[in-house]
Amino acid sequence: MTGPLAGREPGVSLLPADAYTDPAVFAAEQSAIFENRWVWAGYTHWVAEPGSSRPVTVAGRPLLITRDPAGQIHVFHNICRHRGMVLSEEPSTRKRLRCPYHYWTYDLDGGLCGTPYWDRRKGSAPDDATKDALGLIPVTHAEWAGMVLVALGEPVRPLDETLAPLRQRWAPVDLDRLHLAAEDRYEIAANWKLVVENFLDFYHLPFVHPQVGPAAAALDIDDVVLAEDILGGCYPRGAAGKASKTETPLPAFGDVPAALRDRQDIFCLFPNALLFLEADWFQVIAFEPVTPERTVEHMAIFVDRSAAGPEFSDARKALSTVLFEVNDQDVPILERLQRGRRSPAADRNHLLPSWDQITARFQTLVASAMEGHR
Ligand code: FES
Ligand SMILES: [Fe+2]
Repeated sequence: MTGPLAGREPGVSLLPADAYTDPAVFAAEQSAIFENRWVWAGYTHWVAEPGSSRPVTVAGRPLLITRDPAGQIHVFHNICRHRGMVLSEEPSTRKRLRCPYHYWTYDLDGGLCGTPYWDRRKGSAPDDATKDALGLIPVTHAEWAGMVLVALGEPVRPLDETLAPLRQRWAPVDLDRLHLAAEDRYEIAANWKLVVENFLDFYHLPFVHPQVGPAAAALDIDDVVLAEDILGGCYPRGAAGKASKTETPLPAFGDVPAALRDRQDIFCLFPNALLFLEADWFQVIAFEPVTPERTVEHMAIFVDRSAAGPEFSDARKALSTVLFEVNDQDVPILERLQRGRRSPAADRNHLLPSWDQITARFQTLVASAMEGHR
């Protein structure tokens, strides 16, 4: 038996119960983890149309994702350069965003364009250099697999290095072909780490989600550590419930080799993107930690773009129904796990070497990120 639990005394938690409830721990995690890595900030389809924008929050920081009229995605600090007001609070299709305080306006590429009564005279404006210097402040970002990722600070790993293991493993799957089938938002009264741990917990599948398959199906899952910050598992022969998801088979994402057609990969791209991939569907549960005991999940289900039409509408619906049902079943489990963290007895959890190695690795990763930050 290898992994973080090898040789450990039972009854010892890797993270104490108050790591899931304490506001000071939560604040430290936001800066130690969420500001120091490439993290999920939103979906590219949230700004599908040129000329659209959507505010998001990462590490408690208000950000704005825009798609300019030329189709380019940008991410900015969502802050008016005059007095620091949050510029935008709603998804928008306005080509210019206006601050409600003194009506400065900005283009979706971040340029400052309107500054009424700049020097108290009607029609006055700053000189070009001043205007150029007062555009929205950009945030380093990237697009991958339908997601917008951002780096608020200096990431501990560059983007290419972060994504390389997934890009390599998923090279046969064409993730440029994603078409959004369905999405939903979940408010969960639980710490973000429990969301990840439950995602990595293959042991609960037959009990909480019996429709996905019997215990034998969960026994079939291999733990997979792709990189220090990409943890999860794989059903090498497909999830048992797959056949019943849709009667009309969905087309694969491009020319996926037959040997990989049934494989289901389940990976946490640390810290906040939980990814499920089969040859014909891709699901992301990405989340924003809001408080120590509240997390907002944004779940999106994608199919191949050739399955976008009405002939696949029942198949898309059947797939989404199953996946939403599974997530619905997890919500009360997460909230009950959270309530358990109020007890000091939750410091004495007994992670099982046979099932919980991946959870233990995640906890070790969190603990070491926090340690390195101190
Ligand atoms: S704070 Fe935005 S225009 Fe003054
Ligand atoms: Fe679950």
